Amino acid sequence: MARRIIIDCDPGQDDAVALFLALSSPDELDVLGITTVAGNVPLELTERNARMMCDIAGKKSTRVFAGCERPMLREPITAEYIHGNTGIDGIDVFDPETPLEEQHAVDFIVETLRAADAESVTLVPTGPLTNVATAIERDRDILNSVKEIVLMGGAMREGGNRSPSAEFNILVDPHAADIVFNCGRPVTAMGLDVTHQVLSTRERVGRIRQVGNPVAEATAGMLSFFHRYDTKKYGSEGAPLHDPCTVAYLLQPDLFETKFCNISVETGSELTAGHTAVDFWHVTDRPHNAHWAYEVDADGFYELLTERLGKFSEGVA
Ligand code: BDR
Ligand code: CA
Repeated sequence: MARRIIIDCDPGQDDAVALFLALSSPDELDVLGITTVAGNVPLELTERNARMMCDIAGKKSTRVFAGCERPMLREPITAEYIHGNTGIDGIDVFDPETPLEEQHAVDFIVETLRAADAESVTLVPTGPLTNVATAIERDRDILNSVKEIVLMGGAMREGGNRSPSAEFNILVDPHAADIVFNCGRPVTAMGLDVTHQVLSTRERVGRIRQVGNPVAEATAGMLSFFHRYDTKKYGSEGAPLHDPCTVAYLLQPDLFETKFCNISVETGSELTAGHTAVDFWHVTDRPHNAHWAYEVDADGFYELLTERLGKFSEGVA
């Protein structure tokens, strides 16, 4: 039976590719809904972009919900300087046919989890954790239905990408991240330590482009744009492809090495807000609350992504 998931995202080129990867794999993943949050760009763009991806993927019946417009306590931070003003620069923007559901994303998450069997739904957040944390705050009993949470966020060895200490998703809403990491359900975190290993080199993007269907072409277009900023910033051969690591982990967990340890989020200090203190060597007695991904088979990851994007040509996905 396909794993039932809710993807909570802020597209963002890399969120968009995560959506494509999930929508390419209906045998394994049943996407109950896509919830969007303010992050890379404001909410009205993240929900529009998510709906565009459903159109491009030919999945216009996917349910898309708009959620929180701003973090729980802090002022919003966006990232147009990376993603472009649309959030998905690299492809042409259009008015999507996939409708926006009227229900608020947080209400959808709460309602879906209340109605679900125990430990039956996996949450896949790839943006700031505001929607998920707000849902948990509203009704902690919903956690009984959560099988696990596989999120993109955090940094240990790589250091921060938006402040010296913090990764963007956690920095935008550290209070929400604190709630999610300590919610008591299994959390797996794909942070910069692994996402910086899956570089979208020209060769890899070229292979994706060669797949030749509209979804692969959109992916190649977005990754080519994404490439520009990050290759300059990191001096690397290609940009890290952050968010699809979550979905790749659900599809092929053996691509990743993880370690079960304590991850605590800095919410107080302005200097290091959003820092994820990953107790990788178990030097504290803080309870183990998360699986920290630290190694990934990057070639295997791109093989999986390229193969799955090919499913859209076969009309399977
Ligand atoms: C994360 O921040 C966003 O810019 C990306 O979409 C990703 O979710 C990486 O730090
Ligand atoms: Ca994201």
